[in-house]
Amino acid sequence: MAREAEASRILIFGGTGYIGKHMVRASVSLGHPTCIYARPAGPATRPSNLNLRREFHSIGVHIIEGELEEHEKIVAALKKVDIVISALAYPQVLDQLKIIDAIIAAGNIKRFVPSDFGCEEDKIKALPPFEEFLEKKRKIRRAIEAAGIPFTFVTANCFATYFVDVLLHPHDPSDEIVVYGNGEAKAVLNYEEDIGKYTIKVANDPRACNRVVTYRPEPNIISQHQLISLWEEKTGRSFKRVYVPEEDLVKLSQTLPPPENIPVSILHSIFVKGDMMSYEIIEDDLEASRMYAEMQLTTVDQVLDIFLTDPPEPARAAFV
Ligand SMILES: NC(=O)c1ccc[n+]([C@@H]2O[C@H](COP(=O)([O-])OP(=O)(O)OC[C@H]3O[C@@H](n4cnc5c(N)ncnc54)[C@H](OP(=O)(O)O)[C@@H]3O)[C@@H](O)[C@H]2O)c1
Repeated sequence: MAREAEASRILIFGGTGYIGKHMVRASVSLGHPTCIYARPAGPATRPSNLNLRREFHSIGVHIIEGELEEHEKIVAALKKVDIVISALAYPQVLDQLKIIDAIIAAGNIKRFVPSDFGCEEDKIKALPPFEEFLEKKRKIRRAIEAAGIPFTFVTANCFATYFVDVLLHPHDPSDEIVVYGNGEAKAVLNYEEDIGKYTIKVANDPRACNRVVTYRPEPNIISQHQLISLWEEKTGRSFKRVYVPEEDLVKLSQTLPPPENIPVSILHSIFVKGDMMSYEIIEDDLEASRMYAEMQLTTVDQVLDIFLTDPPEPARAAFV
């Protein structure tokens, strides 16, 4: 049978990561032969990472162990697949230039989805520490375009569980919740499993070739005030809203040492300026919930229910 008639073969970098694992699971469940390229497991590998490798092994994921510096090994891995997705950690964003070099050398890759998965970096301008972060992601986009590699750039907006944890501190018994700015700016909070599914779908979708796809489902657009009120309704608790004004976030972005100046700049962009909703999505743009209207989504409301019934591990306490 011609390869075109079969499910595409997908290679994921960063597949053991916070968001990457959802892409690996979605890829397998959507029927794609799936492999991950991961650093060799060793004494320093975290138990959660080892557990994921065991889980992946049990569901048929092929694990290729290697470093990002091993050009020939990456080229050999790429030659056996059709689609490449990178969910590498933020500090590794520029290392994706090595993946790009390997894709050029392999010459067979039909789609590359780089590690974006946040704000739409080509449409916003943030405070300098976040701007520096976004500039690295823009550099990768431009390198992919210049190399003529077929791509899909993904604007996934906020990871919902991660940001509910950052904003509401649901594990914290305190009756105070911090509000950044005036609390009215709208953001988009997408459930991590849905981001995984959407990403596998767009990576395979001819409509998304050489396009940006934004994940902005209507039920996931929410302000901090709305999120806190929803949490109050669900918990029956009442929270004192403690405001951090815009000037304080700007000042912190100027005075905190790197990398601590980045999270405050991200909070400023998303929750004070409302950068995720600062541009319109018009008819010609690609938006995931319109492209895959049949896909069952987990709404922000349901994400809060998950925190009440089966609370996930605290995401990144270090964020703020
Ligand atoms: N929109 C949002 O709310 C949001 C939130 C967080 C992150 N993000 C974005 O999502 C993307 C993925 O972030 P993440 O937090 O999911 O990543 P992560 O969990 O921190 O890391 C992903 C993977 O990168 C690999 N990695 C880590 N350090 C490495 C190193 N020194 N050398 C080579 N590989 C290394 C690891 O894979 P192995 O151990 O298998 O090698 C790791 O599992 C990034 O672009 C980030 O900016 C978005």
